[in-house]
Amino acid sequence: MTADGATTTATYPEALRERVDAHLKELRFPSVAPQTQGLEDAMRYSLLAGGKRIRPVLALATQKAIGGDPEQVLPLAAAIELIHTYSLIHDDLPAMDDDDLRRGRPTCHVKFGEDVAILAGDALYAEALRLLLTAQAGEPSGILAAARELTAATGVDGMVGGQYLDVADVAPDDADGLRTVHALKTGRLIAASVECVLLLNGTGGDTITAFRTFADELGVLFQIVDDILDVTSTADAMGKPQGSDERHGKRTYVSEYGLDGAQDLATECHARAHAALARTGTDSGGRLAELEQITDFIFTRTS
Ligand code: IPE
Ligand code: IPE
Ligand code: MG
Ligand code: MG
Ligand code: MG
Repeated sequence: MTADGATTTATYPEALRERVDAHLKELRFPSVAPQTQGLEDAMRYSLLAGGKRIRPVLALATQKAIGGDPEQVLPLAAAIELIHTYSLIHDDLPAMDDDDLRRGRPTCHVKFGEDVAILAGDALYAEALRLLLTAQAGEPSGILAAARELTAATGVDGMVGGQYLDVADVAPDDADGLRTVHALKTGRLIAASVECVLLLNGTGGDTITAFRTFADELGVLFQIVDDILDVTSTADAMGKPQGSDERHGKRTYVSEYGLDGAQDLATECHARAHAALARTGTDSGGRLAELEQITDFIFTRTS
């Protein structure tokens, strides 16, 4: 069953996902020291293990929504997926969630050792920024604005700050506190996948404000559904262990509100995301089709 209690999963923009996958496969991380090959092997092992590619697909779909060519933002989209992959490698480490299965494969540290897994994550982050700053076409001011947002979204006021709140369990013990953890650890990078594309293109005003509301809701929705699936899905379907949150006594939307309560909150988030998307004023000629599809997919996904 899906997060909204339905039995079917929404369509996913497969053509965009295929484009992202092909681009990621072409990326290499060489060094003047050929002995670093083992590091590149670990990076590519986790990066190319599959994954839904929601963040880069969101970036391509946003470029389409504002009338651009998705091909033009492939380096930015790939950079975002590199950062996401680094976050997964570190999230799975014994000192963090201590999980041994990711994307249907043994986790990076199980396969290559903790030392190499930590370095593979570090290297993916740096190579992501290098990719954005060297391969992404656009006005320098747009690239700088996108880089500023991407680093903010993954720093203390973003993903890593959220991961800290999660592992240290220090967020305020109320509804806002839990939403803050989810908004930071997961929401900010998902939102940046939309916002960085707008910044790159110099889009501003009411359009970026409406897209921001959309992206914030989508990011929190994503993590509420992740919490639900941790309870209701299977390791086979998700490619990662089921029940990890409960094993670690994590505070989640399910532990806080119960399964039904979490599903109701996901339903509200999903409705707010759609409403914000409609307010972007970009829905001419079906341009929003892929963003609508991703919004429904995130709500109804089973993995
Ligand atoms: C998992 O993200 C980590 C969270 C932020 C909850 P995804 O569910 O997008 O993982 P992949 O990329 O498809 O493996
Ligand atoms: C992790 O949240 C968010 C990240 C920044 C990676 P989770 O710990 O719930 O992610 P999964 O369930 O292991 O994918
Ligand atoms: Mg975690
Ligand atoms: Mg985890
Ligand atoms: Mg989880």
